[in-house]
Amino acid sequence: MSIFARRLTVENYRNFASFELELDEHLTMLVGRNAVGKTNLVEALQLLTAGRAFRRPAPAEMVLEGQDRCALKLDLEGEGRVIDHGCRVEEGRRSFSRNGKRCPASGMRGVVPSVLFCPDDLDMVKRGARVRRDAIDGFGVQLNESYAQLEGTYERAVEQRNALLKEAYTTRELMGAWNESLAATGAALTVHRLALLYRIRGYVRAFYASLAGGEEADISYTPTWECGGEDVIAAVASKEHERAHAIEIVRSRLEEAYEERAEEEFRRGVTLVGPHRDEVTFTIAGRDARTFASQGQQRSLVLAWKMAEVAVTRDILSRPPLLLLDDVMSELDAARRTAFIAQIEDGVQTVITTTNLGYFDTETLERAKVVMIGEGEHACG
Ligand SMILES: Nc1ncnc2c1ncn2[C@@H]1O[C@H](COP(=O)(O)OP(=O)(O)O)[C@@H](O)[C@H]1O
Ligand SMILES: [Mg+2]
Repeated sequence: MSIFARRLTVENYRNFASFELELDEHLTMLVGRNAVGKTNLVEALQLLTAGRAFRRPAPAEMVLEGQDRCALKLDLEGEGRVIDHGCRVEEGRRSFSRNGKRCPASGMRGVVPSVLFCPDDLDMVKRGARVRRDAIDGFGVQLNESYAQLEGTYERAVEQRNALLKEAYTTRELMGAWNESLAATGAALTVHRLALLYRIRGYVRAFYASLAGGEEADISYTPTWECGGEDVIAAVASKEHERAHAIEIVRSRLEEAYEERAEEEFRRGVTLVGPHRDEVTFTIAGRDARTFASQGQQRSLVLAWKMAEVAVTRDILSRPPLLLLDDVMSELDAARRTAFIAQIEDGVQTVITTTNLGYFDTETLERAKVVMIGEGEHACG
């Protein structure tokens, strides 16, 4: 085990006035009835490792009702180092710190990344492409700081461009300068995203096949503009040293696409091409999983994706992520649960929340540290 999360301390955070959680190096189970705060603790762990959390909480929502501030701290240990990550909300504003020194949200990243699997993740298969794009980008920003910067810059630039497109005074000439800079950011983001997606894809195919008795799943990416062929770009994007060349191809094609679609963009007042609208499709046996996948197939697909995130983290950072499994054991059958538990045995620090320990075999329970939440006592297994 390299670096791992040792202790989470929260004060006036959501439903907790004060709470300290010691985490096992391998497997910790948070057990308790509904609404005792299990998901809140998972959210805190994600926030302090990824710099953002799945529910994207507003600062005020994090503070215990009736209080005006909250503080969270996560102690990380390993490789002869002790690092603490902090997050506070004061006067309605959230701030982060590392070893007591204030830092941006990005300061939470790069030590122990986290992979979360929660029931809402089934939306990845069932809902529109935005959820799948967010899944790739949300993972990418944890692995690579330039990915994070590109994502943020691009999102803001599209918003500004859309505002400009809606203005009566805006001319095509004025848009020219915008198009140039947005195309550069959009191209870089697209190539980063494709490179990561192709790494994830290989694992998803393999994990899915093993979960589903050899059935084939796949992921495809369809850009909203003619960017030179997805496969060509991906091939180039996967080789780090050729990435600049790939970005240049994609950039010039994106700028052309803005020109071609200019009239429509002005009419509708939105940016119609670029990575914020690209399609990501999951297929099972060649058919679109969004409409064709059964419940069981959807679950296997998301599970395969999460397992792929763990594997890719290892490949890229040479260490495993913190795996957070919030309330998903009830969603999985025994075979799929076993597949996940196998990851833990492989040295991945894991936190599982559940209302029912009956989902786990004795062997797993014996190895786990079991923490009862909401009963005023902590039990060790
Ligand atoms: N800011 C807050 N102040 C007080 N209680 C909160 C706050 N935010 C959430 N809660 C409470 O936390 C509880 C839900 O916690 P959650 O972590 O979802 O429970 P579990 O996952 O154990 O079912 C709810 O009862 C909710 O009202
Ligand atoms: Mg919950």
